[in-house]
Amino acid sequence: MQDSTRIVRSTLTRAAAGEPLHPGPVFAAPYHTPGDPNDAPYSYARSHNPTWTALEKVIAQMESGEFAPAHEQAGERYRANALVFASGMAASTAVFGAVLRPGDVAVLPENAYFHTRSVMRDFFEQMGVVARYARTARDAQGDHLDGAKLLWIETPSNPTMDICDITALCRKAHATGALVAVDNTTPTALGQKPLALGADFSVASDTKSMTGHSDILLGHVATRDRELLQKIDQWRTLTGGVLGPMEAWLALRSIGTLPLRLERSSQNAQKIAEYLRTREEVKTVLYPGLKDHPGHEIAARQMQYFGAVLSFELESKAKAEAFFAKVKLVTEATSFGGTCTCAERRARWGGDAVPEGFIRLSAGIEAPEDLIADIGQGLDATR
Ligand SMILES: Cc1ncc(COP(=O)(O)O)c(C=O)c1O
Repeated sequence: MQDSTRIVRSTLTRAAAGEPLHPGPVFAAPYHTPGDPNDAPYSYARSHNPTWTALEKVIAQMESGEFAPAHEQAGERYRANALVFASGMAASTAVFGAVLRPGDVAVLPENAYFHTRSVMRDFFEQMGVVARYARTARDAQGDHLDGAKLLWIETPSNPTMDICDITALCRKAHATGALVAVDNTTPTALGQKPLALGADFSVASDTKSMTGHSDILLGHVATRDRELLQKIDQWRTLTGGVLGPMEAWLALRSIGTLPLRLERSSQNAQKIAEYLRTREEVKTVLYPGLKDHPGHEIAARQMQYFGAVLSFELESKAKAEAFFAKVKLVTEATSFGGTCTCAERRARWGGDAVPEGFIRLSAGIEAPEDLIADIGQGLDATR
């Protein structure tokens, strides 16, 4: 079966008479726990919740590449396990917190999502973790692994769309004894499977394409390693960065349409990137689906979809602002992976080393000809 069929089927409940097709949210803080609380599947909702469990099973199957109807989902059968968090940052921080101790070395992309770098710099480095930074492109992080405990990679990187070779970097890191975590936010587990490529952790902000409706925050960590899973689970229970059952249920509902959304938004991103290439007002276009992107060959090997996100550069801040003032179908907003096309000038946040006219765009699922016509008249306005 194709992934898209499997994802849709994996969100169904057991086919028992009178059961709803999809599980509803379970609202509870404590659960009935007579006698020994360890005998109860659920005791207190900071540790576990049945709606998380349903979501975690779907994500775990997507991450490991194995799917089965929900009623066959008995923990041990699956190669990967997933734990969901209140946000992508809660998930990333859980990996740092569970793995790193004072004196440990972590190797991060210098162009990673800026809050990932900030939490490392402002908290973990202050507590004695030694961080080394190198670019994502050309697998540059692989030259800094000596004595490292953790290699953190992000491919495609946000927002510069650099690509690195996950398999090659995992081999190198494992040879030196380092664990590897991949921030897989941009492609989602449907578009790229880091665990199948050798990583120890696949981490994502599911706020983006995974749930795709720009209405919830969500993150997850997936791993095949039981011991690492337990550490991450302990971190989540003790620090309490947990999501509510309503968010978990909305996520389950959204994931059924992920194949459609990712396919359409990736096609739209490709068409927009190719169109931007034809416009003289655009200095550079960065999208791994473009054949002459420096990481295209690797991306084509390790990604099933190139994703919704692309970046391009206009000559100046003023030209970028003129573009945003004119476009009607490109909503000026941060984040990405939603049904509506969004974009923003990244330099306005100050966290990324990008030029003032650098725009990150997230293609939505609108008709591509409408998007291209609108982007075209937006570019006309920059002349
Ligand atoms: C690549 C990447 N990782 C992690 C995050 C953090 O996710 P969240 O906003 O869900 O905490 C983001 C958010 O933009 C991101 O782009």
